[in-house]
Amino acid sequence: MASSTKSWVLIPKGSHFSLANLPFGIISTSSKSTPRPAVAIGDHCLDLQEFSASGAFSSLGIDVSVFSKPTLNDFAALGRPVHRSVRKYLQDVFAESTSNPQALRDNKTLQEKCLIPRSEVTMHVPMHIGDYTDFYAGKNHAFNVGCLFRGPDNALQPNYTHLPVGYHGRASSIVVSGTPITRPNGQILENPAATPKVPTFSPCKRLDIELELGAFLCKGNKMGTNVPISEAADYIFGFVLLNDWSARDIQAWEYVPLGPFLSKSFGSTISPWIVLTDALEPFRCTGIPNDTQLLPYLQEKEEKNVYDIKLQVDITPEGGETTTILKSNGRHLLFSFAQMLAHHSIGGCPMAVGDMFGSGTISGSEPGTEGSMLEISKGGKETIALNGGGERKFLQDGDTVTIYGVCGTEESGLVGFGECTGQILPAPKI
Ligand SMILES: *[C@@H]1O[C@H](CO)[C@@H](O)[C@H](O)[C@H]1NC(C)=O
Ligand SMILES: *[C@@H]1O[C@H](CO)[C@@H](O)[C@H](O)[C@H]1NC(C)=O
Ligand SMILES: *[C@@H]1O[C@H](CO)[C@@H](O)[C@H](O)[C@H]1NC(C)=O
Repeated sequence: MASSTKSWVLIPKGSHFSLANLPFGIISTSSKSTPRPAVAIGDHCLDLQEFSASGAFSSLGIDVSVFSKPTLNDFAALGRPVHRSVRKYLQDVFAESTSNPQALRDNKTLQEKCLIPRSEVTMHVPMHIGDYTDFYAGKNHAFNVGCLFRGPDNALQPNYTHLPVGYHGRASSIVVSGTPITRPNGQILENPAATPKVPTFSPCKRLDIELELGAFLCKGNKMGTNVPISEAADYIFGFVLLNDWSARDIQAWEYVPLGPFLSKSFGSTISPWIVLTDALEPFRCTGIPNDTQLLPYLQEKEEKNVYDIKLQVDITPEGGETTTILKSNGRHLLFSFAQMLAHHSIGGCPMAVGDMFGSGTISGSEPGTEGSMLEISKGGKETIALNGGGERKFLQDGDTVTIYGVCGTEESGLVGFGECTGQILPAPKI
């Protein structure tokens, strides 16, 4: 770990991309449209294809062709020890007192080639995502939603604390931050009390957000084998913010007995920079306490198995003022991503490099910390006041939702995710 937190690259106050972070993403530029890997630092990013072409990383003995690929899968597949040494190498290259000044600090020509203002780059989905599984490990969220649907006595199913509940999501509709999201059409039961129960076809009227974290895998397992919990940490490449948009009215009608389907598959937005698992190590903390005796395959030695990440969600109506509608924290999870992986693979399901897991909605237990509008508006019974007038129960067309997530302090260097944002477009006329 580089001891110096100062960089010769200007890192503006409040930047999520300090020397302590160095997240990886996929960029393209107007002068070079081929997507390629980069690392974010301050308001800049380092084009790793250009930088590795200058002979950088040669001391590490790694295959630098991974930095000429349009996704991070091949880099991820090199494994966590390699991610760690590449990040350390870059921390030294960017340190004010670098041991390697010729590598970049003292080479202006090379800087002009490969150190690019982030305002000039287009970000892409950073991984080829073969499969996406969405879990439901945010116990407070599961409880709040369970109360709305079944009342407090039956809010959590008896199995909830024994296993990380999940369902198979769609990888095909995962988009990078900034991509607009089209409001889905679908079947809705307008009046649940009426008999017979006959749905109408309509644009979703209860369009919601879900505040989640996403984790990417850097290692797979063969079909018929499982990932032991003690090894699961080696499989996790890094993390992004995830807004797993939800059509609550479509979901209410379709989800029993096999779970959500069209209510979730129309879009999921992720932040573009993958914060490496190593960068989050200092921010490990304990999750939601529990007194359930877990089966051995889910018992984790590490008690600090989740992360202290400050999370925030803002809504900005078209042409309007921004309102922060909630603040939460990554610690509000009952199960860790390692437990999700151990569980997902215990029956022999194969995982692959690039697969993504969603944590489930991350809600705190206090008012103002709920990770969805469904919870804040108590199932659409109450309104959320917006700055500059206006109110919401659910999202309107033109609304932009932005999630932020950050760890640490200014002094030791912030480790953040940047933003995960998307604007709602009207449903198509069908
Ligand atoms: C700067 O880097 C380029 C590309 O590696 C190299 O050709 C050049 O000699 C370097 N200049 C100095 C002054 O080190
Ligand atoms: C959990 O338990 C409930 C109640 O026993 C049951 O209806 C449900 O199918 C079980 N499975 C899941 C994944 O909730
Ligand atoms: C519950 O707590 C124990 C003891 O800290 C821990 O080993 C176990 O993994 C926890 N269970 C869950 C579901 O997180």
